[in-house]
Amino acid sequence: MANPNIRLSLALDAGIPTPPAKGALIFNALDDGEYAPLGAPICMQWFKPACDYLNAMGYETTQEVTTKSDFALVEVTRFKPQTLGLIAQAYDALNDGGTLVVNGDKTNGIESHHKTLRKLFEIEGVISKAHGKIFWLTKGARPDVLDQWLAGMAPVEIEQGFQTQAGVFSAGHVDKGSALLLEHLTNRMGGKCADLGAGWGYLSRALLERGDKVKSLDLVEADYNALNCARLNVTDPRANFHWEDAAAFKGANYDFIIMNPPFHQTRKAEPDIGKAFIAKASSMLAPKGQLWMVANRQLAYEDTLNAYFVQVTPVTETTQFKVINASRPKKPTQKR
Ligand SMILES: C[S@@+](CC[C@H](N)C(=O)[O-])C[C@H]1O[C@@H](n2cnc3c(N)ncnc32)[C@H](O)[C@@H]1O
Repeated sequence: MANPNIRLSLALDAGIPTPPAKGALIFNALDDGEYAPLGAPICMQWFKPACDYLNAMGYETTQEVTTKSDFALVEVTRFKPQTLGLIAQAYDALNDGGTLVVNGDKTNGIESHHKTLRKLFEIEGVISKAHGKIFWLTKGARPDVLDQWLAGMAPVEIEQGFQTQAGVFSAGHVDKGSALLLEHLTNRMGGKCADLGAGWGYLSRALLERGDKVKSLDLVEADYNALNCARLNVTDPRANFHWEDAAAFKGANYDFIIMNPPFHQTRKAEPDIGKAFIAKASSMLAPKGQLWMVANRQLAYEDTLNAYFVQVTPVTETTQFKVINASRPKKPTQKR
């Protein structure tokens, strides 16, 4: 992975106006970010594990920027409308004459953002390094197109009346794996339930609609924006919303857990996240509790499931996905 901070250091050496000692804004501050050269910045980040990392490094974090600054850095995301929305937010958060810096890897589309912005603004400096680019400009007149970019970040309605937002998992459509899980989910669900990695609430809404024996449902989701969409989509009073890293979530004695666990945070598959979700689900369930999950078929979760549950039952399999039911969670003292 290219080191994104090298570009920031080079740009500061090249003479970007000095950031204020306190309160420079970083939009999408990275979880491998080293922002000491920016003094004591305010880091905008919506993904909870990244936020936890930034807090542990001593940085102030926020999910919604409400202050103004003379300096704003945008770290581009993988999603174009989300990045454009962040650029517009950053521009609006700058004082007149403030400096906007945009940084990112080629794989995240920095070239295209550079092209777009240089048609609208005078770019004052650009440095290409480490498979990416950093460029900067001074805030002046505000182009109208920024309103469109901001609007591109707002929740929009998709199929079945769901609201989703740019950048969240499966933003434009219902995920096929989750739909398969719903098709095969037992209709005996009830009691205390949780949806780990609940996203914008597709599984949770369906569960509450069909499960009148469900007493409560905890939606645990690390993406602040996705969870906000879930609040719009799941209005049943039995639902509770937790902006948490599922791996750190404190909950016990659940009767049912459903999940379509994440398997990557970057572009490559990282099945260890899914394995951590399985271990966590096992520790959260009551002795007679059950886990219902869907996963991409090629992801080898079976050894982990067998390590954490006495009974593991394949429910169905398609060319792409598999649905699995696991019950009788092993106690930590049982052999794994
Ligand atoms: C495959 S998606 C499933 C989303 C939703 N359940 C659905 O069916 O549409 C996995 C979700 O897990 C979330 N996620 C990723 N890492 C997480 C973590 N450490 N803790 C909680 N949620 C996480 C992602 O943001 C994403 O929304």
